[in-house]
Amino acid sequence: MRNYDLEFLKRFSMVLGMLALITLGLILLASHLHGRIPPEVSPSAAARTQERIAPVGAVYAGDTGAAAQAAAAAAAAAAAASQVAYGGTTDGSVIFQNLCGACHSGGVGGAPTLSQGAWASRIAQGKDTLYKHAIEGFTGSAGVMPPKGGNPALTDEQVQATVDWMLDNLK
Ligand code: HEC
Repeated sequence: MRNYDLEFLKRFSMVLGMLALITLGLILLASHLHGRIPPEVSPSAAARTQERIAPVGAVYAGDTGAAAQAAAAAAAAAAAASQVAYGGTTDGSVIFQNLCGACHSGGVGGAPTLSQGAWASRIAQGKDTLYKHAIEGFTGSAGVMPPKGGNPALTDEQVQATVDWMLDNLK
């Protein structure tokens, strides 16, 4: 072999050796980094675990029991809904149209209609008295105003809002 061939081989194998070392370093680094990632739980293994730790039994009360439970849930939902009258609205016009208007639109039983004349002397008592009479009920010379217009599910705020709406809409 000629001299420069030897020289070339020497350099070339040095480069190869370097590259091999770098490769080895990268492999070690990669495996080290991989070890730091938490291992993924396979879905089937998770399902098996769920199966093993699932409760052994459940209470089955038969068809009647299930029906009773459904009825109780429905009754609870209905009770919850009926406790807030008219969906809890504080829109006086809605409550007036659904309840108060039954007497106050046509003057049924002596109820003052929404006319300025019928309310002038009542407004003179002050708003707080009107609120109080609407909430607690009131018997005057004209007739009987039932507490909360006869619907105890109304909140005080709802009744007050309705009184406000009535006073705003006098003609
Ligand atoms: C069953 C009929 C009836 C219903 C329903 C009714 N009212 Fe009355 N309301 C009356 C009558 C009758 C009077 C007049 C009482 C009097 O002065 O003798 C009256 C009077 C009032 C007064 C005046 C009280 C005062 O001090 O002068 C207000 C305010 C009032 N009603 C608000 C309401 C509101 C708000 C509702 C609905 C939540 C309502 N009313 C539902 C019959 C009714």
